[in-house]
Amino acid sequence: MNLNHLKSKVTEIVSNTNETVENRLYNICKLLESNVDYYNWVGFYFKNGDKNELKLGPYVGEATNHTIIPFGKGICGQVALSNENFVVPDVSAQNNYLACSITVKSEIVIPIFSKGKNIGQIDIDSNTINPFSETDERFLEFVCAKVAEIL
Ligand code: SME
Repeated sequence: MNLNHLKSKVTEIVSNTNETVENRLYNICKLLESNVDYYNWVGFYFKNGDKNELKLGPYVGEATNHTIIPFGKGICGQVALSNENFVVPDVSAQNNYLACSITVKSEIVIPIFSKGKNIGQIDIDSNTINPFSETDERFLEFVCAKVAEIL
């Protein structure tokens, strides 16, 4: 899948100062979910103030119970501590995983760094097994770097 054609749209959305930051993040979720067929839930989590937990931000897809995730819990909580990309080709093989929907087969989480600190992440669920490649990682790192510019 060639994702590079979406980069200019990401830049456009992020630079649109007529929209609130919240709306711009939501528009990025919409862009990704509607243009990549195996991106079925796209959302942002951010560190919740001084607490060692993540709070759900803008997202597109089914509503989730996991609006607050303690650091260390699930794939997202692990990325909050590891500061590293986490690609899960098959969620059923994970012990430390928080299920959102029975249709989800795989997940990718990429941290967002601002001033060298891990302040949040983009989380993508897929209903396809093993769909993510390094192309997704590089593209989503680009998205996270762009988003970090407005946070
Ligand atoms: N599956 C995630 C929880 C968030 S939902 O995918 C929206 C996890 O294990 O951290």
